[in-house]
Amino acid sequence: MNDNLKIIRLKGIELAPYITDLAALRISVFRAFPYLYDGNMDYEKKYLQTYINCPHANMVLVFDGKKVVGASTAIPLRDETGECKAPFLTANIDIDKIFYFGESVLLPEYRGQHIGKRFFAEREAAARENHCTITAFCGVERPANHPHRPADWHPLDNFWQQLGYQKHPEIHTTYSWKDLDENTESEKPMVFWMKQL
Ligand SMILES: CC(C)(COP(=O)(O)OP(=O)(O)OC[C@H]1O[C@@H](n2cnc3c(N)ncnc32)[C@H](O)[C@@H]1OP(=O)(O)O)[C@@H](O)C(=O)NCCC(=O)NCCS
Repeated sequence: MNDNLKIIRLKGIELAPYITDLAALRISVFRAFPYLYDGNMDYEKKYLQTYINCPHANMVLVFDGKKVVGASTAIPLRDETGECKAPFLTANIDIDKIFYFGESVLLPEYRGQHIGKRFFAEREAAARENHCTITAFCGVERPANHPHRPADWHPLDNFWQQLGYQKHPEIHTTYSWKDLDENTESEKPMVFWMKQL
């Protein structure tokens, strides 16, 4: 990893000063396929309020000097929204055991230095600190022939499998956001991945 980069993990109220940095990174990084997210600060503020409110929320931040160039979040599933908990409750999984991972967002010029792996290691450490035995996250499902899929795009499935995660197509939901080429928000199919720690 580049020597100028610094990675820290923050908890609870320590996150608050960095929420705007996280929102800006999400809006910038999630414009790309497969998210195609036409983000705005109003949507972000609503979404990120859950993390601001939770004393057990964790955020991993990557700094290049004073600039935040990457971030990753995690939170006990019990403290997430009803929308996020619902698919696990439907599948009869004890949500108190689960530490839920939000996003991993890293500016493109900082990729390929194993920072993505570090995001997982830090968040799994946070899960253990919170006595959770399962970690979980979800990814958007886009059709293979999606018109905005770049020719050289590869899903992150191999990366996630290498880290010990299993895809659980039976645990799924939809999240709503506005794609870059949409006029209004629409529901996007999301599938969950899990790992037993
Ligand atoms: C996901 C992300 C944070 C990974 O960052 P990173 O620091 O480049 O990842 P790493 O360097 O730790 O890569 C780990 C492994 O995954 C592979 N990998 C990383 N990004 C990949 C991608 N986009 N497609 C396919 N494989 C990828 C790497 O080749 C590496 O494999 P190796 O150990 O065999 O060399 C970064 O690509 C990103 O911000 N992507 C856009 C947002 C996103 O999709 N986030 C995930 C869902 S929220």
